[in-house]
Amino acid sequence: MERILTLKGLNNVLTRKPNEKKVIVLDSNTYKYCLPILLSKVNALHEATILEIGVGERNKTIDTYMSIVKGLVEEGFDRHSQLIALGGGVVTDIAGFVGSSYKRGIDTYMIPTTTLAMVDASIGGKSALNVGEIKNQIGFVHFPQMVCIDTSFLSTLPSRHKKNGAVEMIKTALIADRELFYDMMEYSPEEIGENEFFIKQCVKIKRDIVRSDPFDLSMRQKLNFGHTIGHAIESDAIKHGIDMLHGEAVVIGMLYAIELSKDMPVGQKNTVKKYITKHFDTTIDKYDINELMNYMDEDKKNSCGKYNFVLLKEIGESIYGQEVSKEQLNRILNFKN
Ligand SMILES: NC(=O)c1ccc[n+]([C@@H]2O[C@H](COP(=O)([O-])OP(=O)(O)OC[C@H]3O[C@@H](n4cnc5c(N)ncnc54)[C@H](O)[C@@H]3O)[C@@H](O)[C@H]2O)c1
Repeated sequence: MERILTLKGLNNVLTRKPNEKKVIVLDSNTYKYCLPILLSKVNALHEATILEIGVGERNKTIDTYMSIVKGLVEEGFDRHSQLIALGGGVVTDIAGFVGSSYKRGIDTYMIPTTTLAMVDASIGGKSALNVGEIKNQIGFVHFPQMVCIDTSFLSTLPSRHKKNGAVEMIKTALIADRELFYDMMEYSPEEIGENEFFIKQCVKIKRDIVRSDPFDLSMRQKLNFGHTIGHAIESDAIKHGIDMLHGEAVVIGMLYAIELSKDMPVGQKNTVKKYITKHFDTTIDKYDINELMNYMDEDKKNSCGKYNFVLLKEIGESIYGQEVSKEQLNRILNFKN
């Protein structure tokens, strides 16, 4: 497992490796907004090479990966080199892929700068690249040396991205921590997405789950709550050129997964639904239900004609591997929340 450290701790670790070459991978936004903060706190990186990639999901490609690898080769980086990722999930995914593969793996340090990357993308050792339109087709499960969570980076993050990350935080509380969920409900998603205490609690929960199932064979599947329908919506949005972030799709998936959670007390369902529909656009009318079902048919979570869901028993308690039939799913998707 990765260690969680402060930037001061990272400086101490890197200072002990003065002779190893260091590279910071970032995008143009984190170059502008986050690099000055990083260099003001981590002296050991003053001489580091900077490799900048384009902003956004469409750059999470093999071409970008190759451009970084070429940069490392040209600069003579060897297997003792230190790679630092400074950015959101796109940067941490690409840098994680490089760190897992360059010279068969080099020391990698994640410095997430979006809420989503702090609570999710940088934690748990997964990295991935997209192939064409298809997300996350190739990747590794390979833990970085450490992840440094510093919420001061969030001061420049646009509120839409704070809200996007807050969805994964609300999901984390829903699947594992009832008290945390009710505490969060006192705040707007934007506030949740920049709240240091909530972020640290969500990091802890994700790490505990990953520790018990690093390779996604059992417990870790709980983290997919809301993602079966969410991924279908996200894929459809990409296909039709709809501007939609991951969390914006997952929150709709969460709403329908709650509807499918037959053991969950109705009062609790209503509490979650009220909060989500108040703060997020959850209209599903613009999507063709048959197309969404087709995406779910292709989804790896679907087996033997049934769909595999994570459902809630109650707020803070989830169960994975729950089978849902095509008829049930069709009925729920045609039901207007
Ligand atoms: N590996 C995993 O386990 C895992 C888990 C969840 C998501 N992901 C991946 O994460 C990616 C999404 O991550 P994301 O939402 O962080 O997207 P992102 O990396 O594209 O960042 C969102 C935007 O915020 C900008 N930005 C980053 N930090 C900033 C800051 N501090 N101030 C101002 N702007 C800043 C970025 O340049 C970008 O424009 C997806 O590719 C997804 O597949 C991976």
